[in-house]
Amino acid sequence: MDSFLIQGGTPLRGEVTISGSKNAVLPLMAAALLTKDTCVIRNVPDLSDVRFMVKILESLGADVAFEAGTLTVRCARIKGFGDYDLIRKMRGSICILGPLLTRLHEASVSLPGGCVIGTRPIDLHLKGLVALGAKLDIEGGYIRAKTKGLKGTTIFLGGRAGPTVLGTANIMMAAALADGVTVIESAACEPEVCDVANFLVSMGAKITGIGSPTLTITGVKELHGTDYEVIPDRIEACTFICAAAATKGDVIIHGARPEHFAAVLDKLREAGVKVERKAGALRVTRPGKLKPADVTTLPYSGFPTDVQAQFMALMTLAPGISVITERIFESRFMHVAELMRLGADVAIEGPSAIVKGGKPLSGAPVMASDLRASAALVIAGLAAKGTTQVHRIYHLDRGYERMEDKLRKLGAKIERVDGE
Ligand code: EPZ
Repeated sequence: MDSFLIQGGTPLRGEVTISGSKNAVLPLMAAALLTKDTCVIRNVPDLSDVRFMVKILESLGADVAFEAGTLTVRCARIKGFGDYDLIRKMRGSICILGPLLTRLHEASVSLPGGCVIGTRPIDLHLKGLVALGAKLDIEGGYIRAKTKGLKGTTIFLGGRAGPTVLGTANIMMAAALADGVTVIESAACEPEVCDVANFLVSMGAKITGIGSPTLTITGVKELHGTDYEVIPDRIEACTFICAAAATKGDVIIHGARPEHFAAVLDKLREAGVKVERKAGALRVTRPGKLKPADVTTLPYSGFPTDVQAQFMALMTLAPGISVITERIFESRFMHVAELMRLGADVAIEGPSAIVKGGKPLSGAPVMASDLRASAALVIAGLAAKGTTQVHRIYHLDRGYERMEDKLRKLGAKIERVDGE
């Protein structure tokens, strides 16, 4: 398994361009199942999760080509079941269920596993599909869904931790070809969900309330192909901003949309990080010392849970106490023990991590556990004195396109070491 070898202490300097959003492109690829026509999806990041989703679509019978950041997907003849092993291995594939069911009237997918950050239930996805008229049979780790034809209805999709991002996408896609009007209440408002809605509208779907907690979808008979560009990845942008600030660098970030992460910019400002908008790009500097800042992760437009680990890495460098509270997932502090191996002082109290920042970090071997925890360890390694080796960076490759190349272009001393 590959690892990153990082010599810390070099301020990042230069320019970086943000790739397309992983969490938008995965449901967009599922939405292509809704039409026999060809869908062209541009600005697609070359990630292992995207290549996985390509294999899943091909196992369903789709023709998929992926080159130079453009996906061409044609789901002319598809079947309602795919390669279970593939589907089981990637949670994000649950969002093929809605499109398959509404187009074919039957579908079966494997129940997605949980992961280190939480049990990742799908009860809200299933609640929405049953409300639309699906008959579900769950056995042997598979969900078999059947319908005589989905019928529009009103569905409240809020759960114990607020709205569901992929659940909203799944039900919106199912409703796009259902008979009648569907109202989704407590819909997720994340930019990635808006991207799915805009993609569906470009295919001829009728959706209003995009970006609001109430989506109204009027079913149509069929959808046509489209040519669509994915939004930039706001989580990657925030990751690079935290890295620039952690190394006291001066980085120009191209292609990000700051309106997609206003909550993060607000906290970064509070922490003493300067983010200026210059000719369509963002310039990140950290003129003085970092200051502590408290963060609570919330559904959009609150502070995103996917930036919690990266921001914590930054706060280990801010003299004082920062309280970081995780309200979306039940165990998203796997990075804490590893940050402590680099000398960070963090105590976990229930849903909160109390970060006593300000002590310099020193390099050590650390283990990545999930996608965003890996990013936090890279940020800490870039700021730490000495050498940090981040093991199991296959986690990182799921959601960051050629991260080491982008960081090296900014002057980081980082190399990928082929695993033993
Ligand atoms: C999406 O996951 C993202 N993944 C996650 O990003 C992100 O952290 C999450 O949204 C929250 O923003 C993709 O888009 C591929 P949820 P999703 O359903 O849709 C509970 C990353 O690092 N819930 O919005 O699976 C759930 O347990 C990944 O890029 C239910 O209770 O997340 C959680 O507590 C990690 N029942 C909360 O809702 C359900 O049926 C939010 O989950 C569904 C979810």
